[in-house]
Amino acid sequence: MPVHVLDHPLASHILTHLRDRTTKPATFRTLAYQLSLLLAIESTGDIETELKAIETPLESVQSRVLAHQSLVVVPILRAGLGMVQPFTDIFPDVSVGYIGLERDHETAQARSYYCKLPPLRGRHVFVVDPMLATGGSAVKALTVVKQQAPADVRLVCIVSAPEGVAEVEQHHPGTVIHTAALDRQLNDRKYILPGLGDFGDRLYGT
Ligand code: PRP
Ligand code: URA
Repeated sequence: MPVHVLDHPLASHILTHLRDRTTKPATFRTLAYQLSLLLAIESTGDIETELKAIETPLESVQSRVLAHQSLVVVPILRAGLGMVQPFTDIFPDVSVGYIGLERDHETAQARSYYCKLPPLRGRHVFVVDPMLATGGSAVKALTVVKQQAPADVRLVCIVSAPEGVAEVEQHHPGTVIHTAALDRQLNDRKYILPGLGDFGDRLYGT
């Protein structure tokens, strides 16, 4: 499966501060925004452009602009909300859909509690969720999204575990994953090691 791990010194720097247990929610939110912006740029590196005739102050030139394309970002609530704004900042015409999933603290199984999606047929969809742990949440979200026959679906994460990557590959083979880090393993409570703890709790101070 194509797993793209973000390779940039700034990404490593931001990730280190996200992992640090002493980082407080206000800083955590800023860092999450910054890292998600790098991921948004990286995960859209192959979107289509077209030539446009413009005049510089000196001469005429054919120069590239983004082709009209239909992008949709779908955060998995609630932690995924911390990754949306970079997409809407750099792609103002992007649509946003929401999938609410929550892991049971005992079983680590994701339970669905909300879903509101725009039409997805033929569109380029970016499912965003900072943590890919067991992969249960991502698999559920990808299943819902794919029912609407989008042109393609990518998964964009901040920290991924090998177990989660394998689960996504098993249920949705070939899904492209962009992640800022591929960590070592899950612990017995299905948290990522070394990880950064509970992303949602750290983002929202809960
Ligand atoms: C976290 C995280 C993912 C999920 C990953 O959400 O944001 O959605 O766990 O775990 P998985 O790969 O094992 O499914 P959580 O369920 O804690 O909800 P929250 O975003 O509301 O905090
Ligand atoms: N969800 C989180 O927020 N962190 C983990 O390590 C695993 C799931």
